[in-house]
Amino acid sequence: MRVLWLLLLPLLLFARSPLAPIPQKVPYDKELAELGKVLFFDPMLSSDRSVSCASCHKPEHGGADDKPLSIGVGGQKGDLNSPTVYNSVFNFAQFWNGRVATLQEQTLGPLHNPKEMNMSDSLLLTRLQNSPYYPKAFEEIFGSQKITIDMVTKAIAEFEKALYTPNSKFDQFLRKETTLSPKEHKGYLLFKELGCITCHNGINIGGNSFQKIGTVIPYQGPSPHDRYEVTKNPDHKGVYKVPTLRNIALTAPYFHDGSVSTLRQAIKKMSYHNLGFHLTPEEQEALVAFLHTLTGQQPAILREGK
Ligand code: HEC
Ligand code: HEC
Repeated sequence: MRVLWLLLLPLLLFARSPLAPIPQKVPYDKELAELGKVLFFDPMLSSDRSVSCASCHKPEHGGADDKPLSIGVGGQKGDLNSPTVYNSVFNFAQFWNGRVATLQEQTLGPLHNPKEMNMSDSLLLTRLQNSPYYPKAFEEIFGSQKITIDMVTKAIAEFEKALYTPNSKFDQFLRKETTLSPKEHKGYLLFKELGCITCHNGINIGGNSFQKIGTVIPYQGPSPHDRYEVTKNPDHKGVYKVPTLRNIALTAPYFHDGSVSTLRQAIKKMSYHNLGFHLTPEEQEALVAFLHTLTGQQPAILREGK
């Protein structure tokens, strides 16, 4: 199997984009993003006021949550593992199945989802309009106290734009500002040589193509809301957006179904199902060490006080 893969690899490598560091500065409108930040952390955005966006996208958990499947209003379990919101601005499409193109469009998904925030636009706008804070805050930015759903989603999307995590050890290495330890470096070489990089590449080391677990050896398991749901192409069953590996050491559990709780286990499954072979314990350890170098700085907008 390894031989077959090595024969195919040059073809796939041809198609990939190189690994690139996250820019040290991404421009965004600070005031609009600060308003988006307040909305993002506000449980008033959910019907029973029990969850905010941050309940499932926690700053202290790399922008994801610690549950296999996230929990929405009324304690309901969702269908998918929550992906990180960090660096989502660099993804070519949003959601596991890439059904929307922009962060602004994405925002309506969780707001309307009955298992997540279960809100209607009219209830949301009434609540915001009646709050002592929001009408004035929106007026300062948009020049009107009358809040619209477009203003709300614009503000949240601008905040998400600010959620980039620069200066990971790996990015500093790419910029030749530091060196990797021998184990990390071995992991980096394996990542390239084994072919992880054929799917996990570009600025987000993922987030720019659709693939599935089981390209070589089939993966058994449910695959709700896959790419097939969008395209109705039978080849797209079980296919999802390749997740970013940025901050991956912080965002367990892993995979669309949250079925794997450690990074080492995720790597073992990946190499078995997607490359067709078992890694040695040393290879696993080196890859884990490499993936730890992808943890970046906490976004500046979260480090600064309100
Ligand atoms: C109940 C948990 C929950 C809440 C609340 C929630 N999310 Fe999510 N979020 C998820 C899950 C699960 C997904 C993946 C859903 C899918 O792909 O269909 C997701 C996906 C995303 C994505 C796409 C990331 C990617 O790589 O595709 C973004 C961006 C995002 N959420 C932002 C938000 C914002 C903004 C809010 C608040 C308005 C929010 N989320 C509220 C659980 C949640
Ligand atoms: C053929 C494309 C492909 C290859 C090759 C590949 N991956 Fe993946 N990777 C994916 C896809 C698709 C997913 C998401 C699968 C899912 O959850 O359904 C994924 C998920 C992951 C995850 C979990 C991410 C998360 O947030 O849940 C890790 C970690 C990972 N890959 C690491 C690796 C490593 C290390 C290698 C090399 C040994 C590798 N991958 C090779 C496509 C690939």
